Amino acid sequence: MTTSDQPLSTPAAMPTHAGDASKPWNDLASGYERARSRADSLDNLVEWPAQRAMLGDIDGMSVLDLGCGNGEKLVRLAGEGARRCVGVDISGEFVAGPSERLDLVSADFNDFDALPQVAGQQFDRILFLQSFGYAKDPVGILKRARARLTDDGFILLTRTQPIRYALERAEANSTLVGDEYFASGAFSYVSGWDSQVTMTKQRYTISNLINTFAQAGLWIEAAVEPHLSEEQKREFPDKHAWANRYLAGIIVFKLRSLARDIAFA
Ligand SMILES: C[S@@+](CC[C@H](N)C(=O)[O-])C[C@H]1O[C@@H](n2cnc3c(N)ncnc32)[C@H](O)[C@@H]1O
Repeated sequence: MTTSDQPLSTPAAMPTHAGDASKPWNDLASGYERARSRADSLDNLVEWPAQRAMLGDIDGMSVLDLGCGNGEKLVRLAGEGARRCVGVDISGEFVAGPSERLDLVSADFNDFDALPQVAGQQFDRILFLQSFGYAKDPVGILKRARARLTDDGFILLTRTQPIRYALERAEANSTLVGDEYFASGAFSYVSGWDSQVTMTKQRYTISNLINTFAQAGLWIEAAVEPHLSEEQKREFPDKHAWANRYLAGIIVFKLRSLARDIAFA
């Protein structure tokens, strides 16, 4: 995940909000944003710079951010010239109120296209930044996002490198990395952002991700795996050691719609 959500331990008997991976965010939002705002958070050091670079020139564009957190990234994009920004987050803890350019909506993004701020509209950029894991129907939501793109639009989607989770679970469970990477089903851990909150995640592999994009009628125009620069490694040696050990980081995908005449019913 974004920033440094190092699992504290494998949970024993803590509630896991079985069946709804989004629920913990009602409690986690402030801890997450506190961690994200640290100078040495992975988000500040590598994730946001990579995401921002992939977005390119944003001047005059419309942006929809699904799982936007406190909305700060959209505030920045609006400040850099984006014409219209809509953010949707279930936690509803936002940094700024609405303005002419910015609308932050407290809602479940699984139903994003029914929202009045979205219905009937097209967007130049649609973002799933470390939020895609909370989609109930991953292929379905991507198809619906694809339908909301302008002709030249793209989706920017980031996910945690799945090998990281496999490495962490192998260490916590004294198991082997390959077995953890290829295991199926969900796993739970106590969040490093708030020890009172247990996160439940579905396992995924790189091929799962690529197949999800393909099934939704999207192609990968570019992918990057941002990591610390040499200067950052020297400045933040602990972060470097941790990132090295767990391959901690994200994969950023720039996804475009396949030709519209190809049917993806
Ligand atoms: C790891 S944070 C990422 C936040 C932000 N995109 C960023 O890059 O910093 C995941 C976000 O997804 C939001 N989220 C989780 N499930 C959601 C849902 N069903 N609908 C809307 N937002 C959701 C959480 O509240 C949280 O803000």
